[in-house]
Amino acid sequence: MNLSPDPIILLDRVSKRFPDGTAALADVSLAVPRGAMFGIIGRSGAGKSTLLRLINGLEQPSAGTVTVDGLSLAGADAETVRTVRRRAAMIFQSFGLLANRTVAANVALPLELARIPHAERHERTAALLARVGLADKANVHPARLSGGQRQRVGIARALATRPDILLCDEATSALDPETTRSVLGLLRELNQELGLTVVLITHEMAVIRAVCDRVAVLDAGRLVESGTTDAMLADPAHGTTLALLGDAA
Ligand SMILES: Nc1ncnc2c1ncn2[C@@H]1O[C@H](COP(=O)(O)OP(=O)(O)O)[C@@H](O)[C@H]1O
Ligand SMILES: [Mg+2]
Repeated sequence: MNLSPDPIILLDRVSKRFPDGTAALADVSLAVPRGAMFGIIGRSGAGKSTLLRLINGLEQPSAGTVTVDGLSLAGADAETVRTVRRRAAMIFQSFGLLANRTVAANVALPLELARIPHAERHERTAALLARVGLADKANVHPARLSGGQRQRVGIARALATRPDILLCDEATSALDPETTRSVLGLLRELNQELGLTVVLITHEMAVIRAVCDRVAVLDAGRLVESGTTDAMLADPAHGTTLALLGDAA
């Protein structure tokens, strides 16, 4: 395995088998460098969401180890799992906003749960909304927003607890190409400004091409190729990579 000098996420020979026998991941080893914009691409069912859920401790591997920011998740106590979840926030294709809360109240929710006092909560929420370009939407409900605006709220909420890592599960898959570009541009800015490590899961090569420095290709639970995006685009090594490149053409 080609280890980066300072991996923030390390998977060592990870497998995941669900109780019904489904082998979602098999022997996956992966190092995400700190501060990377790291893409994981694969078709539906390849194991992408399972991989992200292992990284933030929502699932435990059947074999192998997952280490996040130096903390091993193997047999970790509840406190360690909570710490990892705070450090690795997540956004989703379906945004996951609460319909009965305003935009500001959605962003403030993780701060309420972390018992941040009201004044600081208010200040941090306003700053987060300004950062994602939605200062004027604080008091509206999500139903009034476009898909791109909803995902910006999702990003602001994910950043509320100041994570080191942002895990994005098909975060732009429900968006049109132009909105996708704008949300990916925001993720890139946050990556550069905050040094945020971004792990981006997608089935679209265009997303990888647009923003990822490095990429790993998953096929039926196995990692079949990984390296810099430039190298993969110049010389794709695996049939699955070629097929995914073909989809984008
Ligand atoms: N909780 C679960 N129980 C059983 N099988 C699951 C569960 N979650 C996912 N799977 C299966 O694991 C495989 C990988 O799923 P997933 O990680 O969601 O893939 P992707 O996100 O790449 O579409 C699929 O075959 C899926 O049906
Ligand atoms: Mg998925």
